[in-house]
Amino acid sequence: MRRILSGMRPTGRLHLGNYVGALENWVNLQNEGWENFHMVADWHMLTTGYEDTSRLQSDTFEMVLDWLAAGIDPARSVIFIQSEVKEHAELHLLFSMLVSKSRLERVPTLKEQIRDLHLDEQTISYGHLGYSVLQAADILLYRATHVPVGEDQVPHVELTREIARRFNFVYCSERRPVFPEPEVQLTQFARLRGLDGNRMSKSVGNTILLADSPEEIAQKVRQAYTDPKKIRATDPGRPEADPSDGHGGCVIWEYHRKFNPGEAADIAARCRAGTLACVPDKKHLAQVLSDALAPIRARREEYAADPDRVRDIIRDGNRRARAVAEETMDMVRTAMNLKSPGALVP
Ligand code: TRP
Repeated sequence: MRRILSGMRPTGRLHLGNYVGALENWVNLQNEGWENFHMVADWHMLTTGYEDTSRLQSDTFEMVLDWLAAGIDPARSVIFIQSEVKEHAELHLLFSMLVSKSRLERVPTLKEQIRDLHLDEQTISYGHLGYSVLQAADILLYRATHVPVGEDQVPHVELTREIARRFNFVYCSERRPVFPEPEVQLTQFARLRGLDGNRMSKSVGNTILLADSPEEIAQKVRQAYTDPKKIRATDPGRPEADPSDGHGGCVIWEYHRKFNPGEAADIAARCRAGTLACVPDKKHLAQVLSDALAPIRARREEYAADPDRVRDIIRDGNRRARAVAEETMDMVRTAMNLKSPGALVP
């Protein structure tokens, strides 16, 4: 059996980078018949944003809409909310005994967050330090065999494997381990850059959202980064990066390669020859993206018009997730001799 557990912190509406980097992969695995569990990691959101929780509900809802829009089929895949399955908290607590404080301090993702968010190491909370222990609990609670993530999440899965091994070693006989050691299922496509050529980030506003209308897409693409030296329509352009003058490569070309592979080579050739100007090239790309996103947009609108149905999907997902979680916790408690008082009575 191949089972994946994937998680995303609720950040609201998703963008093309989320699609290419994660959702597309999830949908492919689902369609190949893998058993998919998709979790909204709302407790993880609190590790860096515990003070302002005002958007938690709407951000969760918008994100789940995008998952459904992208093609996650609730009949085949389980969509659920972390905080609705309390076993995550229980397993997190038990795992927290199996890992040292210094091991957690060495998790590279934590160090990166401290740097990127300008946090003071002395003020990191107990909960934030335990971020990857909670993630290990997420994954192992479902005894997932694979975790579909990007490069940046590999250290978390590595720690998850260590905890699984440790648990099995301490509490299980060799022949009957409770946990599999889950493998990373790396996303195929390299990260898409934002429209300005920098790292794609919602907070910077250099993204195309899955919910964007064709007009919004066209307007955003018009402002995208191309070759700064191609000024007139007939100037030869450079689709590829040119490190000699800091040119990072044309974003329009990068998007053509991903979303319009059949025409990409020809477009690059005409750009280089100076027979294709940026303005029509951008118009063309905007059309390609609008077409590519059309089915996603349509599905999104359909679900958005029926919020009760989305709530039912989540409720049903929570229930299906809980069933597996309870099963795992039963195995865990048995292995650890943590049984309910009733079990003490002979
Ligand atoms: N840490 C992940 C991220 O920031 C989110 C996450 C939480 C996750 N729990 C998970 C990812 C379990 C995969 C599996 O993207």
